[in-house]
Amino acid sequence: MSVVHIDAGPGSGSASVQTAPSGVAVASARVAPPRDGDKPYRPGGSAAPTELPPADAAFRAGAAGLHPGAARRPGLATTAPFLRACRRDQPETTPVWFMRQAGRVLPEYRALRADVPMLDSCRDPAMITEITMQPVRRFRPDAAIFFSDIVVPLVAIGLDIDIVAGVGPAVAEPVRDAAAVATLRALEPDDVPYVTQAVHSLLGELGGTPLIGFAGAPFTLASYLVEGGPSRNHLRTKALMYGEPKLWHDLLDRLAVITTAFLQVQIDAGVDAVQLFDSWAGALSEDDYRRYVAPHSARVLSAFADEVPRIHFGVNTGELLTAMGQAGADVVGVDWRVPLDEAARRIGPGRAVQGNLDPAAVFAPEPVLAAKVGDVLTRGAKAEGHVFNLGHGVLPETDPGVLAHIVDLVHAG
Ligand code: CP3
Repeated sequence: MSVVHIDAGPGSGSASVQTAPSGVAVASARVAPPRDGDKPYRPGGSAAPTELPPADAAFRAGAAGLHPGAARRPGLATTAPFLRACRRDQPETTPVWFMRQAGRVLPEYRALRADVPMLDSCRDPAMITEITMQPVRRFRPDAAIFFSDIVVPLVAIGLDIDIVAGVGPAVAEPVRDAAAVATLRALEPDDVPYVTQAVHSLLGELGGTPLIGFAGAPFTLASYLVEGGPSRNHLRTKALMYGEPKLWHDLLDRLAVITTAFLQVQIDAGVDAVQLFDSWAGALSEDDYRRYVAPHSARVLSAFADEVPRIHFGVNTGELLTAMGQAGADVVGVDWRVPLDEAARRIGPGRAVQGNLDPAAVFAPEPVLAAKVGDVLTRGAKAEGHVFNLGHGVLPETDPGVLAHIVDLVHAG
């Protein structure tokens, strides 16, 4: 077994990835040194990761009535700033993580993925673990997001979908009629054993940093399936929605069942929170969203009401924020177009907000960036709970050092 050291660049520990005889990269269990030697950042605000018991011992010891994650990391819900903010229990420092924090902005990710197709990496527990950990070592965010993709459960039930670099999902046979909808069977936990394995291994590596599981919401998944790939105007999707409403609701019902099962697998394995990505919901009017989409998303979200915090996110959703809040999540993700205080007003009481720095603000001069971060923090403080994030995913051209700086700015308040 050879050990390859990947230089993770300035300001981060170097990541050691071991290559097994099979050529598969496996992450060795280790905890990276603090990013900033002067101020050790301790996720959860209390115990450093090294002080926590090894996951497997805690898991074997078990704890009746608790899911494995709870058994492994007792007390996290009351100590981790991210989980406290999700539950509107104001932590001392605002928690921060970045959507799409794993991926192409990291050279160590590119090195690991050089010869491995995207979906193969999503089915390999060692790769999932390592890629999920890479941004955690780099940026010391308050939460990790499980490395996967929204199409993974669809591939797991047998659909022929690829992810094309620089483009996105490509569906070999788009789903546009009743026969195609009927092929969308329920997802069983055995369809995604690598997800359970990877969550277990991550809980051992993450120490006090919470792990966010995720899935695509029924509408966003439907858009990819009906269009066959990414779409600007969602024409075929809307044609089906308006033209064959019964078939549309059957399609979204089935996708809700798949999404619920995919999230349940992650929760049963021990993730600490879940995010439902309805990235393209902003293409809809509020009326259409309420009629054709919200009931299906609400059904997914309601399945986990008593389990873990639920984040509900979409882009261009300024006009949908009230409806998205009513769909039942604990936290509503907001893009950068609506200021967070106004977003919180639209979402209404009893919800935390997540967001919402413009992902392009990372390219602004530092004083402008710092002012924008400060503005998001000031407005976010007016909500009942605030998780700092970008308004959408990290852009590929982003300098990882700027993301680390944003984490420092947010923690400094
Ligand atoms: O946030 C994270 O770091 C966790 C991993 C994650 C990925 N996809 C990995 C990925 C998450 C949360 C997603 C969700 C996802 N996937 C969404 C919802 C979030 C959003 O951006 O609105 C959507 C719409 C998809 C579908 C998808 N997969 C797209 C549009 C793309 C981009 C294609 C490209 O290359 O520009 C992908 C591929 C993908 N998913 C990559 C990663 C790291 C890039 C793959 C690569 O490295 O080539």
